[in-house]
Amino acid sequence: MTRRAVVAGVGHYLPERVVPNSEFEARLDTSDEWIRSRSGIERRHFAAEGETTSTMATAAARAAIADAGLAVDDIDAIVLATSTADLTFPSAATMVQAALGMERGFAFDVQAVCAGFAYALANADALIVSGQANRVLVIGAETFSRILDWTDRSTCVLFGDGAGALVLEGREGTGTSADRGILATDLHSDGRYRDLLYVDGGVSTGTSGAVRMQGNQVFRHAVEKLAQTAEDALAKAGLTPADVDWIVPHQANIRIIQGTAKKMGLPMEKVVVTVQDHGNTSAASIPLALSVGKARGQIREGDLIVTEAIGGGLAWGAVVIRW
Ligand code: ACO
Repeated sequence: MTRRAVVAGVGHYLPERVVPNSEFEARLDTSDEWIRSRSGIERRHFAAEGETTSTMATAAARAAIADAGLAVDDIDAIVLATSTADLTFPSAATMVQAALGMERGFAFDVQAVCAGFAYALANADALIVSGQANRVLVIGAETFSRILDWTDRSTCVLFGDGAGALVLEGREGTGTSADRGILATDLHSDGRYRDLLYVDGGVSTGTSGAVRMQGNQVFRHAVEKLAQTAEDALAKAGLTPADVDWIVPHQANIRIIQGTAKKMGLPMEKVVVTVQDHGNTSAASIPLALSVGKARGQIREGDLIVTEAIGGGLAWGAVVIRW
């Protein structure tokens, strides 16, 4: 028997305010046409005053726990991927723990920018497989609208806010790729690329700073590294791209998503795409896409899913899940 971390529930939260590309046309030298054709983004959600990463994460967590048919007391741990925690500390995860009324277990944040959810899934999987926790809430939540330079047209039009969550539960599998649950993970980072994508603030500056990105340089790394990590993760599970039902990619740019699918030899009919509606929500984008993909009827129990993401660091990775 092999212990597997199986998806028991999924949920998401998006702030009420939807901002179409046209809102940027009024205050920047940009156009709906440029944003759509270069990124695939048509609109994004922005948090209201008073809404934070932890409040959105809590809403997504509640939805995932309800979807799993569980109660808060059933959860042993919370792993929250974010680069926009409410405060430098405590972690947003412990704020979610308190907001849920969870009085036991443990909670911590994972920071790997847009690759954060892949890292969080890998951590949660390890906790479950090693027996340290049986039911883990894995959340991706971001408030990138608070770290954008509204005068920089090359970044501020690309990002959005939101949160998504999964409940992972330990179950016994047979050890084959027919098992439900996380089948393989593949993580990488290379800190030499720090200047391609970073926030120019933090404890060293006393400000929270704003996103700085050499978009075309990141783009060049993205397709190659994403296809490679997805194929490596599949190979670790004894699978190939031909076995995949759905790619659920990090939603940064439709051209990166299309390029990665093409490099893997998979048609766009096998890709869950939400970038047009959410923009780039960093660590929240994959759980948002999983939740929306399930709600649309695309993702069904037993489907083989590969998620892949790249972001600041650079950090990147992929996770293979049988839903
Ligand atoms: N409106 C109009 N023109 C613009 C805008 C805008 N909003 N933004 C940039 N431009 C201009 C640039 O100034 C440039 O003009 P120039 O040629 O006169 O200098 C021109 O458009 C082309 O700019 P590029 O950056 O080369 O455009 P590109 O086709 O590469 O698209 C984009 C830019 C969308 C940012 C793309 O490079 C991309 O998606 N990169 C990857 C982003 C990503 O995946 N990031 C990782 C995750 S994010 C994270 O980890 C936080």
